Amino acid sequence: SDRVMLGPLVGAIDQGTSSTRFLVFNAKTAELLSHHQVEIKQKFPKEGWVEQDPKEILQSVYECMEKTCEKLSQLGIDIANIKAVGVSNQRETTVVWDKMTGDPLYNAIVWLDLRTQSTVERLINRTPGKNKNHLKHRTGLPISTYFSAVKLRWLMDNVEEVRRAISSGRAMFGTIDSWLIWSLTGGKNGGVHCTDVTNASRTMLFNINTLDWDPELCQFFDIPMKILPKVRSSSEIYGLMVSKSGSLTGVPISGCLGDQSAALVGQMCFQDGLAKNTYGTGCFLLYNTGQKPVMSEHGLLTTVAYKLGRDKPAFYALEGSVAIAGAVVCWLKDNLGIIQSAGDVEKLAALVGTSYGCYFVPAFSGLYAPYWEPSARGIICGLTQFTNRSHLAFAALEAVCFQTREILDAMNRDSGIPLAQLQVDGGMTSNKLLMQLQADILCIPVVKPSMPETTALGAAMAAGAAEGVRVWSLDPKDLTAVTCERFEPQINPEVSLQVNSLLYEILCV
Ligand code: G3P
Repeated sequence: SDRVMLGPLVGAIDQGTSSTRFLVFNAKTAELLSHHQVEIKQKFPKEGWVEQDPKEILQSVYECMEKTCEKLSQLGIDIANIKAVGVSNQRETTVVWDKMTGDPLYNAIVWLDLRTQSTVERLINRTPGKNKNHLKHRTGLPISTYFSAVKLRWLMDNVEEVRRAISSGRAMFGTIDSWLIWSLTGGKNGGVHCTDVTNASRTMLFNINTLDWDPELCQFFDIPMKILPKVRSSSEIYGLMVSKSGSLTGVPISGCLGDQSAALVGQMCFQDGLAKNTYGTGCFLLYNTGQKPVMSEHGLLTTVAYKLGRDKPAFYALEGSVAIAGAVVCWLKDNLGIIQSAGDVEKLAALVGTSYGCYFVPAFSGLYAPYWEPSARGIICGLTQFTNRSHLAFAALEAVCFQTREILDAMNRDSGIPLAQLQVDGGMTSNKLLMQLQADILCIPVVKPSMPETTALGAAMAAGAAEGVRVWSLDPKDLTAVTCERFEPQINPEVSLQVNSLLYEILCV
């Protein structure tokens, strides 16, 4: 048969909040050869609660890998050329499982979940001066419902099976990366229990200065260190895939990054001062600050950006996290039923091209950066008899842009050097109306790469460049195939500022 000669290939698992994907890239050109995607169910058992089934997540990974391999075979591409696989994942989402049975002891508690609000209040009240930033110098994070430690605390306080498994030494904790790598490398039959520095930096148990679990942080949350995974770099061989992985059995897993870090790598933001904004379920702007952690004065997080090799230095980022971006479009679809599919929002909003004074603050999970206010809730205001669903759709898109504007302003204040343009990626960036609106509201150009799967690309790059694999060069000069689409701001800055101050008024009252 006609075999296509391509040289080494690298796969990437991209396990996001709304879907799982497996993608295969050509390691020489970064060209995306094939992929498959499966939606993931979110469960909302109570108001503010968000859970997922860790087994369904694992199953979706197997399914995506198998389907992608089938598609490659149909294209005449030899699967044996896949030399490594990288993992990128939704961050903070917390799983506890039994290492003897391999079964999760409770659903995964998703990063958006708000059940820990009272736990968070209790913990903040215990700090001197009741200060939510009490642990920030070590973790880079405020005490918030967002991070894993409080979710794990909730599981220990409320789930008998978790408590029992911990006391009998059978419990393992992990974020989604750990759960997947452990399962894919053998699970109860010798799976590797590890995480990488970027994922670890989102737990609140990790010291971003020493790059290791911090005994005092574990003590603060009263979490036993023996259930934590081993922390590794973002690019090294963690283990080999076992037979359940079908065609990919024996392939090393050699890259691991939280999805937002992976996107930073995939966008080649390797120097300090470079930044990207990813529009997924939420929206996350990461700004590379180089080899030292910079603490924000304006409500941003400090996080580990990547560490591409055991002996390589860690790079850090300032992060502006917005909880609700793509999720507001899902809400218009699932809860209001005003669109049939997420892609329809662009057309609906374009019918009017204005929100007509209607404002939508989608604070469904409280407000993240720069407010960190878990008790905030969403509002829609400025409604008149004239307002229709098109205005509402437009206001929802505007809300995503306004939230990005707020974190960009905070970022500019922290860094002192205003960003000249914004590199973007993620599912929502296929919405041209949104991209133009974003450029207008930021008053700087918005730049989108032609290959939108930057998160997966970053994970593949980390996996392909790992010691013992080395099929991928990380030098941006070698990856010149990337072309971009630019959206230039088209309204004058003063108009944009007026619009923004209106939003600030709404948020601040
Ligand atoms: O911190 C949560 C983030 O990693 C989730 O990303 O792409 O699923 O919205 P996404």
